[in-house]
Amino acid sequence: MRVASVTLRNFRNYKEESMKPHPSINIITGPNAQGKTNLLEAIFYSLRGRSFRAERDKDVICWQSEQTVLQTEVEFASRTFVIQWKIREGNKKLLVNGVETPRSELDHFGVVLFCPEDLHLIKGSPQERRHFLDYDVGPLNPTYSRSWRQYARVLTQRNTLLKEIRDRRAAQEMLEVWDEQLYRHGARVIFLRLQVLKKLIPVARRIHHELTRGDEKLQAKYLSSLVLEPGLTEDQIYHIFDAASKKVRSMEIQRCQTLLGPHRDDLSLSINGIEAKTFGSQGQQRTVTLSLKLSQLELWNKEYGDYPVLLLDDVLFELDRNRQSMLLDKVLNRVQTFITTSLRAVSKKPSGVPGPFGR
Ligand SMILES: Nc1ncnc2c1ncn2[C@@H]1O[C@H](COP(=O)(O)OP(=O)(O)O)[C@@H](O)[C@H]1O
Ligand SMILES: [Mg+2]
Repeated sequence: MRVASVTLRNFRNYKEESMKPHPSINIITGPNAQGKTNLLEAIFYSLRGRSFRAERDKDVICWQSEQTVLQTEVEFASRTFVIQWKIREGNKKLLVNGVETPRSELDHFGVVLFCPEDLHLIKGSPQERRHFLDYDVGPLNPTYSRSWRQYARVLTQRNTLLKEIRDRRAAQEMLEVWDEQLYRHGARVIFLRLQVLKKLIPVARRIHHELTRGDEKLQAKYLSSLVLEPGLTEDQIYHIFDAASKKVRSMEIQRCQTLLGPHRDDLSLSINGIEAKTFGSQGQQRTVTLSLKLSQLELWNKEYGDYPVLLLDDVLFELDRNRQSMLLDKVLNRVQTFITTSLRAVSKKPSGVPGPFGR
């Protein structure tokens, strides 16, 4: 798939701007605070229905404006979609080919983002890695996002009920209804994460091996709050979740928190047998992240027969020359890529790479 055009109206610092990106590589350069990241954010927003950096939707609306409109044309081999977002404070609307559509319809529009904040993936809290599991890994299965949203909804409601039970405003038996749903959606989320990781990790390992010229062996392992053996079925995970959850129920009521489940899980990443978060240098962290991002592109292609759009915000020219050219080799003429940099010297263009905005 590729983005054939983007129009931004009152999005961040853009009043009215249109671009027709190049189908392969687009380099967006300029001094700081010009709106380079804002442009990537607009593309990401169009395809995902959320920003990767704004806490609230209203942050993307240009100051002194009431409404942002984003219009993006996305071409697949056989079809073109016009995606339009109308964003107002507390209200946003998606139209696809002029028809109001739920956001979940965008689940099959692929976008992979690599930005400096992604380095927290290695050294940051488990929450950062769960974000990676939910937003990057999960969508490699077409049903993941829906299951994850269902689980998140049940979790919120169950936590509210735990508080009501602790405050004696509700009876403990009421948990049963939510518990069944918690285990069902939770088992599904864990099962799907494990399934995707089983395919993704070998690809990431191979790419990492290549990027480090055979020096480093990347390993990744799912760390669950439940005791899980390899090869479990979804049903088996359900029963393990059920049994373990019952044992911590009184503590859950005390703390008003659901203590077990996919929202407490983590991913362990190691290089040559040592946890990446304890020793990884900045360069190594960047390479691990890059391997993971590139493996997403490849797996998406395997699963859906197409490449997602790749957004590289201030990360390409921070890589050494070797990794830069390996990355460009992988994406050139295959993956539509948007690269931002504030470095003045995009001196020697890698061969075959067109200039800014593909022209
Ligand atoms: N809601 C908004 N309305 C208008 N301008 C904004 C808004 N949010 C951010 N900006 C402006 O956008 C600029 C930052 O753009 P950004 O894309 O991050 O720059 P860079 O080119 O360095 O990536 C800043 O000048 C900031 O003031
Ligand atoms: Mg920027």
